[in-house]
Amino acid sequence: MSRSNDAAPLTITVDGDPLRALAGQSVAGAMEAAGIRTWRSNPVDGSPRAPFCGMGVCYECELHVDGSAETRACMVEVERGLVVRTEGVGRVHD
Ligand code: FES
Repeated sequence: MSRSNDAAPLTITVDGDPLRALAGQSVAGAMEAAGIRTWRSNPVDGSPRAPFCGMGVCYECELHVDGSAETRACMVEVERGLVVRTEGVGRVHD
């Protein structure tokens, strides 16, 4: 059995800045690996919010990917050239 830790490096853009990621990472995982721990705030009290579940349940990781409406960053795999924007996220879910 062979094992490989040779995930291919690639670059995505986060709010206009390049961010190195590895193929197979989620957008949330790549951002957290780069030290970006929070990217949205609670619209009620402005408190910072951060990814919590990592599996698409909590919606705390929402942002915009390639011009999309709010998308769960933990559910999107990085791709070369992917463009992420964090402005304007902060919706509260029931
Ligand atoms: S971290 Fe919970 S939905 Fe993404």
